[in-house]
Amino acid sequence: MEEKIDRLLAQIEGNLDYLRELGIDYVPGDKSLPAGDLSKKKVFSSLEQEIRQCRKCPLAELRKNAVPGEGCIDADLMFVGEGPGRDEDLQGKPFVGRAGELLTKIIKAMKFERESVYITNVIKCRPPGNRNPKSHEIEACKGYLFKQIELISPKVIVTLGNVPTRFFLNTKTGITSLRGRFHTYKGIRIMPTFHPSYLVRNEEDRSLKKMVWLDMQKVMAVLGKK
Ligand code: URA
Repeated sequence: MEEKIDRLLAQIEGNLDYLRELGIDYVPGDKSLPAGDLSKKKVFSSLEQEIRQCRKCPLAELRKNAVPGEGCIDADLMFVGEGPGRDEDLQGKPFVGRAGELLTKIIKAMKFERESVYITNVIKCRPPGNRNPKSHEIEACKGYLFKQIELISPKVIVTLGNVPTRFFLNTKTGITSLRGRFHTYKGIRIMPTFHPSYLVRNEEDRSLKKMVWLDMQKVMAVLGKK
């Protein structure tokens, strides 16, 4: 019995040490208060801090700002793009340029608020001239995205365009064949769709928007938004 109590006390002490490491020195006794949520917030913001200071690949030398991501850390729905563009690099926020405006419209049409989903990219720093991320850049950066997904634990991830879709599905197949149906990544549903920049660049082709909307309706159905 005593041994058991000692083990329990050691376990509690270990947990408290962990919380102290995160900067939490007060844990309310009231079970209804969200000590767990508090620590998640702390872990998340230290992850964002780490991303903002990251120097794991040469893109760090070229950036104005790293762009960790933005939104609700308890979101059911996550959007993942390829990497920050010029506007995102300047502001340190994802999807704030023209493609971002369109993404915000799509999110609203899905009956979500931009703040209630989480938006991020496969890589967190802008590649020069908005070229596609190179595999060594993705390799250096991917741990951040994995950690974000682990913490948020979304029900659905919408992948925008080829880069995030191929990343999650580990394939070279193109977005046109993969979009519009659910795939799975570690038990999470993945819905690939066209990148909003592609829609902006091909504004006259209304069928693209229609296809994205069909894809998003499937996501809405899964998340109870119909
Ligand atoms: N394109 C992306 O893939 N991500 C952004 O954040 C902006 C444009």
